[in-house]
Amino acid sequence: MLRGPLTQDGVHAPHEQQLAEFARDLLAALDARPRSISPKYFYDAPGSRLFDRICELPEYYPTRVELGLLRSHAADIAQHFGPDAEIVEFGAGSLRKVRLLLDAMERPAGYLPIDISGDHLAGAAQTLRRAYPRLQVRPLVADYTGPVPLPVPAPGAGRRVGFFPGSTIGNFSRDEALQFLRMAAQALRGGGLLLGADLVKDPAVLHAAYNDAEGVTAAFNLNLLARANRELGSDFDLRQFAHSAFYNAPLQRIEMHLVSRRRQQVGVCGRHFEFAEGETLHTENSCKFTVEGMQALARQAGFSPAAVWTDPDRLFSLHWLHAPPDKESP
Ligand code: AVJ
Repeated sequence: MLRGPLTQDGVHAPHEQQLAEFARDLLAALDARPRSISPKYFYDAPGSRLFDRICELPEYYPTRVELGLLRSHAADIAQHFGPDAEIVEFGAGSLRKVRLLLDAMERPAGYLPIDISGDHLAGAAQTLRRAYPRLQVRPLVADYTGPVPLPVPAPGAGRRVGFFPGSTIGNFSRDEALQFLRMAAQALRGGGLLLGADLVKDPAVLHAAYNDAEGVTAAFNLNLLARANRELGSDFDLRQFAHSAFYNAPLQRIEMHLVSRRRQQVGVCGRHFEFAEGETLHTENSCKFTVEGMQALARQAGFSPAAVWTDPDRLFSLHWLHAPPDKESP
C-alpha cells in the first residue's frame, strides 16, 4: 500500500513528500520562539508501538475507561445510531473500540475509516472485512483536519454516524476543535457523532498518566527526536533532552515538552540550531474538558448534544452529538 521504497536494511522508507513535510515543520519549529511542533509526528511505526504500550499502562486511564464505557453502553449507543448505520471513524486507531460498536449495532452497513497512514488503514480494513463479511469497508486516506470528501452513502444505508474516540480532540486548539466539529456536523448531517473527551480532574491523576513510572511516555515524547535522526539525519543527542509533562491548570491541558538539559547545538538538514539550557520544544497539548464545556463547544459547531456517558469516577466522557439535517431549501 502506501509505502516508500525499501532501504538497505529492509525497512520501508517514508514517502519523499512526507519527509519533506516533516523537515519543513521541524525547521519551522526550531526557528520559532517558543518552539513547538505538531504531535502528529509522534506516530511513526515505533511511536505508534509506544503509544499502544501507553494505553496498557496502569497510570494511563483514558483508554481503559473509554473501553469500559463503550462496553457498558454499547446497546444504548447502538439505539442512538439506529439500524443500517454507517460508521465514519476519524483516525483509524485500535479496532477494539469500533468492534464493540459494530457488535452491538443492528445490521451495521458500512465502516469508513479516515487516516493519513495508508498502511495502518489497509491492515485495519482487511481485518474488519474478514470479521464482518457483510460490512462495506471503505477506507479513505486523507487528513481529517481538513475538508474530507466522503463517498456517497451505500445504497439502503441508514444514518451516517461519526466516531472520534480517545480524546484526540484534546490535541486541537479551541479554534481547530471548532473547525473540526463544524466539518463533522456538516458531513454527518442527519446522523451524529460519538465523541470521546477526557475530563478535567485532580491534577495528580493527570500528572501520573503522563509521567508513568516505566518511562514509556518519556520514550514516546523523545521518539520525536529519534525519528528526526532516523528520517532527516539530524544529530539530536537524546540523552541531552528531558521529557516534561505538566498540567497547565488555567488552560485545562497537559503540556508535553522536550527540555534541553544543557546549552547545546543541534544539526538539522545542514543547519545548526542552538538550545539554551532549559529551553524547550513543545510537542503536545492534551486538553481536558468539562461535560458542559464540551457540550457548549459542540453546540457552537452546530451539533445538538443528545446523550453523555461518564464513569462513576468521572474520569472520561462519551458524547452522542446529534447533527441536524440540512434545513429544507425554499
Ligand atoms: C492520543 C492524543 C489522546 O493526549 O492522552 C498519550 C496522546 N500523549 N500520552 C493523549 C498521549 C501522551 C493521547 N491522545
